[in-house]
Amino acid sequence: MCRPTHFTVTYSINPWMDPRKPVDPDLALAQWEDLRDRYLSLGHTVHLLDPVPGLPDMVFAANGATVIDGRVLGARFANAQRQREAPAHLDWYRDHGYTQVHEPEHVNEGEGDFVVTRSWLLSGQGFRNSPLASAEAQEFFGRPTISLELVNPRYYHLDTALAVLDGDLVMYYPAAFSPGSQAVLRSLFPDALIATEADAELFALNAVSDGRHVLLPQAATALADRLRELGFEPIGLDLSELLKAGGSVKCCTAELR
Ligand code: ARG
Repeated sequence: MCRPTHFTVTYSINPWMDPRKPVDPDLALAQWEDLRDRYLSLGHTVHLLDPVPGLPDMVFAANGATVIDGRVLGARFANAQRQREAPAHLDWYRDHGYTQVHEPEHVNEGEGDFVVTRSWLLSGQGFRNSPLASAEAQEFFGRPTISLELVNPRYYHLDTALAVLDGDLVMYYPAAFSPGSQAVLRSLFPDALIATEADAELFALNAVSDGRHVLLPQAATALADRLRELGFEPIGLDLSELLKAGGSVKCCTAELR
């Protein structure tokens, strides 16, 4: 995770961002600390990446790399405003003993558009990731990689429309995907939890699950109820300030696999 020391909204690179809307930096920090404390109280380890001045979106640590079995695929950001984040992430991995680190040739925004299930790597396309990023990731990780076309700019990253609950069990919002990709999702994930438009609008799919606890935006009470029926323990968090930049629980969390 990366502390939102320099967090603010001064540019707009997704429809949630409006630089005219003020952000409360103290509240943003308190909300982020609440998320970090939740992970700690659940027994998870949290490593911190040092925030860099002038990079307000760096709090969205999920975008800086994808890590599977200790192999690190670095990011290459689509927008100029975030490009300097990528080397900071690579340095962190190299300084922390990761030796298999690949600097990507093609644009990919880490776990924003790469979602890891037990069997597959899912790759969101259409807004940020280059169409060539899927092949590059498949080659690097040696894991079957499925490209999914995102069609709604409000769900500009795959992790705003789909989350892994456990293994190959996912939840997703179908209308964020093209018809062909919806068909692919139905065949890969016949048991998926299908989210509603109301769930998606609350950013409820931007969730992190450890297989039992599901951390998600606190406003998403309807989805939380359905998760509980499936045997999960939903934990709601108020990350309203970070949502002003189009991010929430998952965006703030890079998972070290
Ligand atoms: N403002 C950031 C951007 O548009 C938000 C990134 C959210 N991260 C995510 N993993 N979806 O790039």
